Amino acid sequence: MCGIVGYVGKEDSAPILIDGLRRLEYRGYDSAGLAVHDGERIQVVRAVGKLRELEKAVGAAPLPGSLGIGHTRWATHGRPSEINAHPHVAGKVAVIHNGIIENHMPLRERLEKGGSEIVSDTDTEIVAHLIDEQLRKGGDLLASVRGALAQVEGAYAIAVTSQDEPDRLVVAKSASPLVLGLGEGENFCGSDIPALLPYTKRVIVLEDGQLAVLTRETVEISTLEGAPVEAEVRTIDWSPMMAEKAGYKHFMLKEIFEQPRAIEDTLRGRLDREHGDITGAELGLADEHVPGIERVYLVACGTSHHAAMAGRYYFESLTGLPTSVELASELRARDPVIGPGDLVIAISQSGETLDTLMAAKLAKEKGARVLAIANVMGSAIPRMADGELYTRAGPEIGVASTKCFTAQLAALLMLAVYLGRRRGRLSPERTAELVEAMARLSHQMRDVLQGTRQLVMNLARRHVDARDVLFLGRGLNFPIALEGALKLKEISYVHAEGYASGEMKHGPIALIDSAVPVVVLVPQDECRDKSMGNLQEAKARGGRIIAIATESDDEVHQLSDDVVEIPAAGSELTPFLTVLPLQLYAYYVADFKGTDVDQPRNLAKTVTVE
Ligand code: G6P
Repeated sequence: MCGIVGYVGKEDSAPILIDGLRRLEYRGYDSAGLAVHDGERIQVVRAVGKLRELEKAVGAAPLPGSLGIGHTRWATHGRPSEINAHPHVAGKVAVIHNGIIENHMPLRERLEKGGSEIVSDTDTEIVAHLIDEQLRKGGDLLASVRGALAQVEGAYAIAVTSQDEPDRLVVAKSASPLVLGLGEGENFCGSDIPALLPYTKRVIVLEDGQLAVLTRETVEISTLEGAPVEAEVRTIDWSPMMAEKAGYKHFMLKEIFEQPRAIEDTLRGRLDREHGDITGAELGLADEHVPGIERVYLVACGTSHHAAMAGRYYFESLTGLPTSVELASELRARDPVIGPGDLVIAISQSGETLDTLMAAKLAKEKGARVLAIANVMGSAIPRMADGELYTRAGPEIGVASTKCFTAQLAALLMLAVYLGRRRGRLSPERTAELVEAMARLSHQMRDVLQGTRQLVMNLARRHVDARDVLFLGRGLNFPIALEGALKLKEISYVHAEGYASGEMKHGPIALIDSAVPVVVLVPQDECRDKSMGNLQEAKARGGRIIAIATESDDEVHQLSDDVVEIPAAGSELTPFLTVLPLQLYAYYVADFKGTDVDQPRNLAKTVTVE
């Protein structure tokens, strides 16, 4: 997830671009850059780090010109560095990009064979070279962008400027967001409305498969195939604060609703639906490592530890490998028996959590292979690991993790399927079935978020004064019960306990009375019938039962006070769906209580102390 802006008008473009990037910095902030056309040539300035570094660089080497493009990066391909920062230049064009080009590897090979000099590790530079290649064949910029995009698979929002066309910006979109802003004698583009709001309230939201040519006076939209498009111009009345959160009241709520996109991006280019398999590329593990793995350790803290607990179910059942889950801080408090033959997977959203980093280092010293699952490219844990698998959730601003959690689940499931297939535990048919189920997941998550929001909000309102809440789950949904309780504790300061359903009778059942909401996860899976027994036990003690269940489960409806329904999905996929109403529940309870949802007391987003 990156932020892009473009400007063509009468003013000096650099300050407008930097201002736009500042409003998009929530989309990424590991490096940034500008390309400005001064009428004769394009000049590029790039800098690693936050936007102020770019500002300093532009201060030292001003960029005159009233047409330009700017980018703030959240690395997906290639570490944060000046050479990987956008814009990328090839021949006479400069390109900025938000998205993931899935077929960048074969395109890179072809271009390099043809003599292109590709200097960065990014997928974006490939697009720049493809456009340059088309320009050399004699087309104008628009035709060349079209010709290049015809070869590209994946997600993109791009903005392109060419030395030979000082008055035109060409932009295009597929799966990544792009908004055009209409001014007087000037026009804009940006990843999101906030970048444009100080300059214009009139916007066009570009659709997938559309290109636009922006000049000072005109905006012309067409399809990739070349058909002209009449687009609707909307007038936006958001305040700048609302705009930064895309209209949501808090970053956490925005991030909850971003999960389908985060899952799509995390799976992008890694699911091989044609062959019904997971591609080894970018998993941090290659086929040659598979035979050497005898045991798996999943190591993490906080919410990432709950993802690890779900990961154990995936690894044990899909790969047949003995798998342990470890709290990073506790692993180091012991003398763990780890050595060669062990694959230690360190899971961390930030990639910086000190306990996880130190545990991963310890494992490496003992001879294990360390694989990092992280959301921040180039962060400490992936840097020290032997392999890295990046979730692509984009920056998570809310302290309580939501979209990074489901992206971690997706990463773990992919890894388990990949290993399971190669170890012969999964048949080609079962592997293909899981791949298809993963490909459907984001649609199901979207349905759950939209379909349950109002009901969950009502439940939260009704139970806002509950002093204790119990969350019960079994099997894969036990870690989800823990995560539901953690979310509620973190942001609403309500006492909540997550328990394995079967353990309830060994203690927490004593807590249950009519003042205690009991959230029971009973989706249709191997555990459902046993969990129904536990639901009945809680009901018999007067507990107010909120069930999270598969749609049309009549028995659940009969026994529960309220039922939040999720669509039918294979057992492995249910956690992605059951966790969504729990996140929403925590969010709305906290919002009704009026707590600081995005920055709850005493907590920090990244914990770099032991
Ligand atoms: C902090 C955050 C949690 C997070 C945990 C682990 O406690 O508030 O949301 O789950 O750290 O962070 P990591 O970056 O390693 O996933």
